[in-house]
Amino acid sequence: MDNTESPSGGDAIPGWYGVDPTTTNLKMNPHAHYKHLREIQPVNLTPVDDWRLSNYADIQKLLKHSHSGMRDIDGLIPGETREQTNATKFMLRMDPPDHDRLRNLVSKAFTPRALSTMRPMIERLVVAELDRVAPLGAMDLVADLALAVPAASMCAMLGIPFEDRHKLTDLVSLVTYRLAKQAYPELQEQSEAAIMELAQYMLVLIEERRENPTEDILGQLVTAEESGDRLSNDELLQQSIGLLVAGLETTTGLIANGMVCFSRYPEEFEKLADDPTLALSAVEECLRFEPSIPITLRILWEDTEFSGITIPANANVYALLIGANRDPLYFTEPDRFDISRNEAKHCSFGGGIHFCLGSHLARMNAEIAFQQMAQRFTAIEIDESSIQWAPSLFRIPGSIPARFQRRN
Ligand code: HEM
Repeated sequence: MDNTESPSGGDAIPGWYGVDPTTTNLKMNPHAHYKHLREIQPVNLTPVDDWRLSNYADIQKLLKHSHSGMRDIDGLIPGETREQTNATKFMLRMDPPDHDRLRNLVSKAFTPRALSTMRPMIERLVVAELDRVAPLGAMDLVADLALAVPAASMCAMLGIPFEDRHKLTDLVSLVTYRLAKQAYPELQEQSEAAIMELAQYMLVLIEERRENPTEDILGQLVTAEESGDRLSNDELLQQSIGLLVAGLETTTGLIANGMVCFSRYPEEFEKLADDPTLALSAVEECLRFEPSIPITLRILWEDTEFSGITIPANANVYALLIGANRDPLYFTEPDRFDISRNEAKHCSFGGGIHFCLGSHLARMNAEIAFQQMAQRFTAIEIDESSIQWAPSLFRIPGSIPARFQRRN
């Protein structure tokens, strides 16, 4: 049907409404498309019978207050067989009580102490990278900063030798294609092979920690215990690979997309340079303004009403986090980038029981990166037509050539 018509009454007329995942360029300039969808059909029924929500209030209701989960009423992950579902043990794809048990055990390793011991290491790395590029007046914001920082923190977190970080990032990027089998059938073989290689690699590290316990997060996961309960080898393996997949590209996207914002809005970059205590609120604004993960999914377990439309039980419902982040009912002038904004919380880390477990780590990485960049450099210049997107499911730049001047 024509994707420009407005639906009538309480019925959702199926359509992509200009946000067709296979044809629209949703990486470089997504916001006008999502705005159009939110205005024309905020509770959207797609031609493939999935639903999409783009109002802030509806998304909060779905994530925090609905009877829903990651598996359908029969306990199946959409698109997977029973056998595949049973073999999946990463917490983001589990429902309670299994989800809560895994999350509790893994959270034990994400202590403020574990994170704070990583801070000086990340600061040293950023300083060394920026020392190296400073005399050149030019850098690749992805390779030299946005990828380097989370790769180093992931290595520290899981006790992976730093020199293996490039191999690791390549493997992780391949593994993410497994999440979109239909969209990338040609990559499935490579993706499966990458999972096997990563699994073998992680198993060696896990075995080492069983023999000689370590302080890193992987070491803590190996020994994490609650009421006599521990992670099995398979659970341990899937949580550690899952952490890599959930944390690496996403944080790269946050830092890289954030630096693009700073080059577009130099006055905001100067504001941060003048007041480094704004770094954390700058991170929140970058997360709101250019989220690297535009959507998340829930499956409803009962008929549920959103903005006057009832979505039936067992429907796949996508929360368009990127749309909610610019809902004008919650953010004044939502298309304005303002690092001192102090309004509703953005939706970029999801919500409810699956709220991102790595949010503090991601924030710390980006805070250090933005603060150091603003203190040392000015006039960040990016020719946006030269940005290359990583071959990723998400909004992750693969390369951003940039020029800058050194601050006196
Ligand atoms: C800017 C960076 C990041 C973004 C934008 C992001 C975003 C998200 C989103 C949207 C979800 C799904 C939430 C939901 O459906 O309600 C999620 C879950 C998760 N994230 Fe992150 N994430 C980031 C960084 C990280 C990092 C650094 C780690 C760990 C090292 C991590 C670990 C996880 C885990 C374990 C879950 C699943 C939690 C659960 O199911 O209980 N994330 N993240």
